[in-house]
Amino acid sequence: MLRILALGDVISPATVGFLSRRLWSYRREMEVDFTVVNGENAGFLSGIGSKDAALLLSGGADCITGGNHTMASRSIYPTLDSSDRVLRPINLADGVPGAGYTILPARDRRILVFSALGCLFMEAGTPDPVPYIERVLLREAGRFDVSILDLHAEATGEKLAAAHRLDGKVSAIFGTHTHVPTADEAILPHGTGYISDVGFCGRTGGILGVKTEVMTERQRTRLRYSYSEAEGPFRAQGVLFDLDETSGKTLAVSRVSFGE
Ligand SMILES: [Fe+2]
Repeated sequence: MLRILALGDVISPATVGFLSRRLWSYRREMEVDFTVVNGENAGFLSGIGSKDAALLLSGGADCITGGNHTMASRSIYPTLDSSDRVLRPINLADGVPGAGYTILPARDRRILVFSALGCLFMEAGTPDPVPYIERVLLREAGRFDVSILDLHAEATGEKLAAAHRLDGKVSAIFGTHTHVPTADEAILPHGTGYISDVGFCGRTGGILGVKTEVMTERQRTRLRYSYSEAEGPFRAQGVLFDLDETSGKTLAVSRVSFGE
């Protein structure tokens, strides 16, 4: 059995610091074999910097997945091109820096990790990610034991429909982007572990990790306010998938969270 921890959107450099202090001990406690972290917002809601990516990797993440903000900062492009542990979404245009999947070792097994972007209420013109994933599964057949997909999207229905199309093909699928965890963790009929959204990693007490007054004034006035971080204690939200490394199917899925 392989135990994979998938964590939701890391929303700031301060949160990267929190994870680098706590993640290794949590991994040991929960006997985690491999950790995937969505890092698209690690530069505080505006992409991820190479320093934050390096800190997350040394702090206990095995792979960093992306989203609609990954390409926001050009400083990450060389890292996307050179590291097999930092991904951008797979369904971006040809020629965009980086890759949308990778195959990494965990114990004596090989884990195929995908990062993909949803289409609804996201970047206009984003193509359906499912055919991109299916093509890779065919191309890499025999080169991996289990697979996991971070589906970064706004709409739960879109994520669930994509998951059913990939049921039995991908070992586990977790949603990110909304920063709000859902309570629909399940094993789909053909063995794929699933949750629509795992939530986020950051300071609690605000709205989606941002200071409450900033978000309420933005909504009330419709004016632009610069974001500032919430001030509560740190919390990491995610999910644990127990995978059968022989069949590639999910045996158990459970929501988890830890703080400081
Ligand atoms: Fe996002």
